[in-house]
Amino acid sequence: MFESLISSAIFKRATDRKLVEITVRNIRDYTHDKHRTVDDYPYGGGAGMVLKPEPIFEAVEAIKSDLHSEEESGALPIILLTPQGRLFSQQIALELSRHSHLVLICGHYEGVDERVREHLVTDEISIGDYVLSGGELAAMVVADAVVRLVPGVLGSSASAIDDSHATGLLEYPQYTRPAVYKGWAVPEVLLSGNHAQIAKWRRKQTVIRTAKRRPDLLDKANLSSAERQLVEGLQKQ
Ligand code: 6GU
Repeated sequence: MFESLISSAIFKRATDRKLVEITVRNIRDYTHDKHRTVDDYPYGGGAGMVLKPEPIFEAVEAIKSDLHSEEESGALPIILLTPQGRLFSQQIALELSRHSHLVLICGHYEGVDERVREHLVTDEISIGDYVLSGGELAAMVVADAVVRLVPGVLGSSASAIDDSHATGLLEYPQYTRPAVYKGWAVPEVLLSGNHAQIAKWRRKQTVIRTAKRRPDLLDKANLSSAERQLVEGLQKQ
């Protein structure tokens, strides 16, 4: 599953430039029985299987011993992807992007032995209120969001700054050529070459768009008093 992410354009750039390294480990490689067993029946009964603690602990121990310095393994976030975790956000992505290393553990089946949570994991993350069959897609979502925040990974460092959610607001509408398509014209200000006017228009569009689509984001946003008035006007409409 991870091959598609690793071979995507942004990841390739990041790994080719040695800005990021990603390794995928299979917990089955940390078993010691003939059947390479990673799961077992839940104590107390019930449906489904539970991931055993030993292969997960051993996989993480192996990763830790591969890290060079004490510092690297001391402050190492060990993150379990689970629908029970804290809700992932751009803020959390930014926080994670500041660590030199991260371990992402993909839960699977019905659950993970609770001792993994209690004694190994330092953080639990969910990517939304819906259920996925496993943590793999969630791990890729987190990895993608984090890697693009690593300095130097994006072509122009400016392109992450205006991203939707980077400022806590949604991004303004974008247009490219042709200037008129099927009779639909690009807003004139964008063709004006007046960069101050363009910046002003974009900021206004950002505020309008966020007010219409995600008013919940406005509570925490840094708006000027003129922008607050604009929002109140829209709310009255
Ligand atoms: Cl991290 N894992 C699974 N299995 N389902 C999820 C999730 C994670 N986040 C949202 N749904």
